[in-house]
Amino acid sequence: MTQRRPLIAANWKMNGSCELAVQCCETLSQLPASNTEILICPPVIFLNDFPKSDRYQLGAQNVSSEVSGAFTGEISADMLAAAGASYVIIGHSERRALFGDTDTLVLAKTKRAIAAKMTPIVCFGETLTERQQEKTMQVLAQHLDAVYAAHPELLQHSVIAYEPIWAIGTGETASPAQAQAVHAFIRTYLKKYDDAAASKVRIIYGGSVNAENCAALFAQPDIDGGLVGGASLKPAEFAAICLSAQ
Ligand code: G3P
Repeated sequence: MTQRRPLIAANWKMNGSCELAVQCCETLSQLPASNTEILICPPVIFLNDFPKSDRYQLGAQNVSSEVSGAFTGEISADMLAAAGASYVIIGHSERRALFGDTDTLVLAKTKRAIAAKMTPIVCFGETLTERQQEKTMQVLAQHLDAVYAAHPELLQHSVIAYEPIWAIGTGETASPAQAQAVHAFIRTYLKKYDDAAASKVRIIYGGSVNAENCAALFAQPDIDGGLVGGASLKPAEFAAICLSAQ
């Protein structure tokens, strides 16, 4: 069980509707008050369909690295914050693989999010081949360095998400022991940038989290919550996942 405040975040990806937003609010509003922080990251068009509530926070799934100007299709950090987002997911493997989000861009977006007073959820994870070649820690170290080596001050404002790419949307979850080993590695590795911030930073797990496997994952000492994709589109299951983190 984590010593940090658990964070359960829903990443709807490019799914959902206003109707789902309404259902999600109704279901979450019935949850008992707890220390667990609940976050919904729907497509930004739905942010306004969520009434303000102290039961959950809202976030975005991406942010521009630019402040303003001729960047067709982009949304700035200030705009997201003004629309009610207090978190933003950055460097998700789908963005890295499909939309060219490089480590340089991930760093730039992280800085923009923090400057707009949002909390970046910075995502890292290895491919199946990298895991099979026993390169998981090496790959993670390289990506962590790209964001935090020159800017260790960003760590105290960040949430880290460990999302093994082979576990995303595949139904194959990292075992609690596998995930704990990586989370512990990340925390220890981050200590070289800022020892206190590394102890405090929340490291959440993503990759086929569901109502059945969540309790065992969240029972691990360095797993501070989850970043939930598919299961977050089912309000009752997402609520069960939130409950299991208490
Ligand atoms: O960001 C969450 C994610 O990538 C995991 O997705 O569908 O495997 O829970 P899923």
